[in-house]
Amino acid sequence: MLFAGHETTTSMLISTIMCLAQYPDVLAIARSEQAQFSGDLDFEQMRQMPYLSQILKEVERLYPPVAGGFRGVVKPFEFQGYQVPAGWKVLYQMKAAHQDSDIYNNPDQFDPDRFSPERNENKQVDFSLVGFGGGQRICLGLAFAQLEMKIVMAQLIRHFDWTLSPDQDLSMDRIPSLHPRSGLKVKLSRRVA
Ligand code: HEM
Repeated sequence: MLFAGHETTTSMLISTIMCLAQYPDVLAIARSEQAQFSGDLDFEQMRQMPYLSQILKEVERLYPPVAGGFRGVVKPFEFQGYQVPAGWKVLYQMKAAHQDSDIYNNPDQFDPDRFSPERNENKQVDFSLVGFGGGQRICLGLAFAQLEMKIVMAQLIRHFDWTLSPDQDLSMDRIPSLHPRSGLKVKLSRRVA
């Protein structure tokens, strides 16, 4: 539970904080979305944050906390000319699926609008966004994790400014879950209301 429930969510939050510092235009739109609410964060408000949901999907796509997962082959199939027999174990890789340029336009680009209702790039092919896995064994904590991340990010966006400290190594390490090699150093300051 520590890995499944804590490491993963922490990893995605770190990546979200990093991306919003790197893309101030995206943060500005997220800020204006939060500015429409008055009063403390509640469930009703949480249902009305489509742009924040798009940002989290884009972070899941580019920075999936979990690298891959195993599946047992129950029926033989062919994949790119390879015959895969029943009984084998196969490994699926989130990042590879998320970089498929047949599905995602300019897959290297951070672009939360690809998940807007007009574009919905992940809806053309099943299992295009698999940061939480898919099918019968999809992440049991999916809804809980999404709620947790929305709460943390909505509060940060509303009440804090942050910048990335200079001179840090932002290249990523995969173990135990995706994170910048030497952690993420940010300067955080409370926003004046
Ligand atoms: C950003 C956060 C999270 C990510 C990216 C994530 C990712 C994943 C992935 C990729 C799987 C494998 C699914 C598959 O093979 O189809 C999985 C399974 C699982 N996750 Fe998560 N997870 C997250 C948060 C959580 C949380 C918060 C909990 C619990 C509170 C949780 C509990 C589980 C459990 C119990 C399984 C095993 C499900 C099964 O095998 O039936 N996860 N998760």
